[in-house]
Amino acid sequence: MTSDSTAPTGTPDAPRFRALLPEPAADVDLAAAYAYPSGLEGPWLRANMVASADGGAWGPSGRTAELSSPPDRALMSVLRAHADVVLAGAATARIEGYRPVRPREVWGGLRAGRTATPPLALVTRTLDVHPDVLEKAPPEAPTIVFTTESAPADRRRAAAASGAEVVVAGADSVRPEEVLAGLAERGLVRVLTEGGPHLLAEFAAAGLLDELCLTLSPRLLGPAAARIVAGAAPSHTQDLRLAAVLESEDSLFVRYRRAFDRTAG
Ligand SMILES: NC(=O)c1ccc[n+]([C@@H]2O[C@H](COP(=O)([O-])OP(=O)(O)OC[C@H]3O[C@@H](n4cnc5c(N)ncnc54)[C@H](OP(=O)(O)O)[C@@H]3O)[C@@H](O)[C@H]2O)c1
Repeated sequence: MTSDSTAPTGTPDAPRFRALLPEPAADVDLAAAYAYPSGLEGPWLRANMVASADGGAWGPSGRTAELSSPPDRALMSVLRAHADVVLAGAATARIEGYRPVRPREVWGGLRAGRTATPPLALVTRTLDVHPDVLEKAPPEAPTIVFTTESAPADRRRAAAASGAEVVVAGADSVRPEEVLAGLAERGLVRVLTEGGPHLLAEFAAAGLLDELCLTLSPRLLGPAAARIVAGAAPSHTQDLRLAAVLESEDSLFVRYRRAFDRTAG
């Protein structure tokens, strides 16, 4: 996903969302619509992804900027406000220029009782991430780096010395289950993954995806871009149920949940 900077929801310039499902409504309160289930006792993995109308996951620039829009960025901001942690693959962090999440005044009370921003959690074998991602995170919400035993030891030490929490969660490949367990140990259960397609494929294949927030962008991209789930993870099918559909500025915002929720609501 791209930057979450846009006119904040609730301001006069903020994008307006109308609900199509489950009940039509003229003006949707995004924060209320996208609350996580209450009383979670374990991890809840929500993915936020954007696709073109023909299913492409990135634009001609190799980034998601061409697919995004002010409403998409407004939603991204609300989803980050709700999340305990933002989880991404290192390629997304590199290509999309990730930095530690910045606090937004408009989040209001959404982060009451939690750190002002959700920490980033990155999955990587190379530990090739921008130094600011490690060094500029606030001390109360350090970046968490999930990596492998096979990762270069000097880079692991350097990341830890930069203030990141470095967690070894697999021999040659980070195991998705260990990521969610490691986050839950830190009290981070409302997990928001922003991809990319390779990381999402691995969590989906492990049966760990609870919810998919999918922006359908009104553009065709042709066959060059991958889909939002891609890579070499074993092919996996999962039944989803349609929880909600919103519309804003010709984009559709579709929310799916696993067909058999672990919690009601
Ligand atoms: N449409 C959307 O919503 C969306 C969302 C995000 C990104 N994107 C686009 O997707 C593209 C990037 O896609 P991607 O799928 O290659 O990115 P990705 O899933 O974010 O990153 C892949 C990288 O994550 C690390 N990784 C993933 N699984 C791992 C594992 N099990 N163990 C250790 N490391 C692991 C590796 O990093 P190292 O290379 O550091 O080892 C790997 O190269 C970009 O063009 C971006 O703009 C689209």
